[in-house]
Amino acid sequence: MNKPIPGTVGILVDESSGPLPFTEPDFCRKLCMIGRRYNMAIYIFCPTWVHSGKNLIPGFTYENGSWIKKMFPFPDIIYDRFFSRDNKHQRLKQRCLSLLTDNHPFVYLTRGLAGKWAVYQALCKSKEIAPYLPETIQYTGAIQLADWLSSHGGEAFLKPQHGTHGKRTLHVKITNMDDRLRVRGRSGNNTIFRRIFRNKADGFEWINKITGKRNYLLQQYLQLNSSQEEPFDIRVLMQKNQNGLWSLTGMAVRAGRRNSLTSNLHGGGTAYEVLPFLGRELGTTVSNELIHLITQLSERIPSYLESYFGRLAELGIDFGVDKEGKVWILEVNSKPGRSSFSQIGDMKSARRSIENPIHYARYLLLSRPRE
Ligand SMILES: Nc1ncnc2c1ncn2[C@@H]1O[C@H](COP(=O)(O)OP(=O)(O)O)[C@@H](O)[C@H]1O
Ligand SMILES: [Mg+2]
Repeated sequence: MNKPIPGTVGILVDESSGPLPFTEPDFCRKLCMIGRRYNMAIYIFCPTWVHSGKNLIPGFTYENGSWIKKMFPFPDIIYDRFFSRDNKHQRLKQRCLSLLTDNHPFVYLTRGLAGKWAVYQALCKSKEIAPYLPETIQYTGAIQLADWLSSHGGEAFLKPQHGTHGKRTLHVKITNMDDRLRVRGRSGNNTIFRRIFRNKADGFEWINKITGKRNYLLQQYLQLNSSQEEPFDIRVLMQKNQNGLWSLTGMAVRAGRRNSLTSNLHGGGTAYEVLPFLGRELGTTVSNELIHLITQLSERIPSYLESYFGRLAELGIDFGVDKEGKVWILEVNSKPGRSSFSQIGDMKSARRSIENPIHYARYLLLSRPRE
């Protein structure tokens, strides 16, 4: 058995109605098992389990083949896997984190990025990265959308600044032939819808009802469909490793169903190996060049974003490849999923995607200055 690593790692997740009382149980189990291998103290907890006046947290850990509930000291490192659903939910988490901060200093394994607009603005400032960003502005309403459509070939893509899983995205299209406005989209529960409006004004009014109070981005609509009309993108997972250095864990294509607008796995997409998929679309030579470019960009983005947002540990970067073979950076996720690797049978990347957060947490704990 390795020497115990000084310090504890708390994995912060959301509550669940069961069978275990927290989300991502499979991922959490694997994290605990890897931690055990290095004799690290790792446990799972939810915001409501932290109480003022108490200096222990009732958490779960996976030991010798089963889940055990016990009391744990406050964490030295928090791996934040809590996905806020709304402001109330977010406040619950903030309350928990301020209770923790007041009692025991901790560091985040990785930071959450502050929404798609802040990330876009930071990336725009890099000469090397900016050419791969779709033109994007903050959505302000109908007048702006009408102007955009007339100067961008009659098409636009709208996405919420804090969206995930392709939910609440919209593709807006007008044609010169008539005054009709066509909208394809994904609802809040990720179902696909289509609407045709007899005139633009009705369409714009409806779009504003859909966007509501949410902040939206208005973006150049990209032709990201395969020859089978499946929208696809390439997800790259970048993570820090056991030496605290960024490394590319793996990449996979995600393709949505025909004409389904988004490629996210949560919206019904399927993962594929990158080279065979791209090879079928654009030929092997071009595909190898694209993979090379995507790798270069992926290696550049993490440390660049760290210079703006502080220390990070893992990022999921979504790349689009359009019909002309041009690469686009669609978004950067600070709480990436990792199921695409096991879906395509890339077990090495699947394993590393789970090991890396623990390896990096171990690196952080071991490099702490000793009292
Ligand atoms: N500008 C765009 N034009 C066409 N399709 C897009 C565009 N931006 C995103 N998409 C599609 O929508 C999906 C979701 O967009 P993304 O920006 O990754 O937001 P999120 O995954 O957080 O909902 C992408 O994976 C891609 O399939
Ligand atoms: Mg995405």
